[in-house]
Amino acid sequence: MSAAQDWSAVFADVLRQPESRVQAEIWGEVFGEEYPAELAPYSYTSRSELRRIAEEVQVGAGDLLVDVGSGRGGPGLWVAATTGADYFAVDIAAPGLAEVRRRATALGLDGRARTALGSFEALPLEAGEAGAVMSIDALLFTPDKQAAAHELARVLRPGGRLVLTTWDYSRQLAGRPPQVADHRPLLADAGFRVLAYEETPDWERRHRETDRLLLARIDELAAETGEHPDDVRAAFTEMASTVDAMLRRVLVVAER
Ligand SMILES: C[S@@+](CC[C@H](N)C(=O)[O-])C[C@H]1O[C@@H](n2cnc3c(N)ncnc32)[C@H](O)[C@@H]1O
Repeated sequence: MSAAQDWSAVFADVLRQPESRVQAEIWGEVFGEEYPAELAPYSYTSRSELRRIAEEVQVGAGDLLVDVGSGRGGPGLWVAATTGADYFAVDIAAPGLAEVRRRATALGLDGRARTALGSFEALPLEAGEAGAVMSIDALLFTPDKQAAAHELARVLRPGGRLVLTTWDYSRQLAGRPPQVADHRPLLADAGFRVLAYEETPDWERRHRETDRLLLARIDELAAETGEHPDDVRAAFTEMASTVDAMLRRVLVVAER
């Protein structure tokens, strides 16, 4: 992959496909009862983590919960439904947002859910419009994390919470956006008070085991999408190699 990888095209390609049955089986095997299968996450989130996020966002009826890098929106819609907040999904990939709308309708959340194309660096929101922002396993794809932190602070109301998961990295990987070893200085610089910064349970075993099982089922994965197995193997091999550069997967809670 080149340094100028177009992540919106990469994710649009993935998210326009129906959820992968093989990947869902693998996540189910690795996460056990912690895997929220009905929410079709495209991430390493878990049932316990989603309950924690729903507590930490501290929003309720009439508040706006923004989910940046929503993907198909299953996890974010669950948090919105649990808290009673209105839901706004923002993502760089349109096919994921179409699935968010379908899921919102199926849940009867039509009137409380909206979607828009946008990115961490340019959020489609007025200053102070968000009651809280959540984001699961998406911030690592931003080309400019400092700009993202400032933009997140801009859209949050004073006292509003940012709750996200991402990874700290020990080194930069070729073909991946710039990473950092610790997000706290970036958040502090953008005016956030960091309330919690926790390594998420069992993250490394889950990651490595998922990668191992994916690489063992390349032919089935290729058959699902019609891609050549060599291309699928190359993509999953690249993904598996990123774990060696990860220091930790973190759950971050910060207040504007
Ligand atoms: C690993 S997926 C996680 C999706 C979802 N949060 C979940 O848990 O299922 C990462 C998501 O981040 C989105 N994304 C990547 N770069 C982004 C950016 N710069 N701004 C906003 N979203 C981005 C991708 O399109 C993708 O939907």
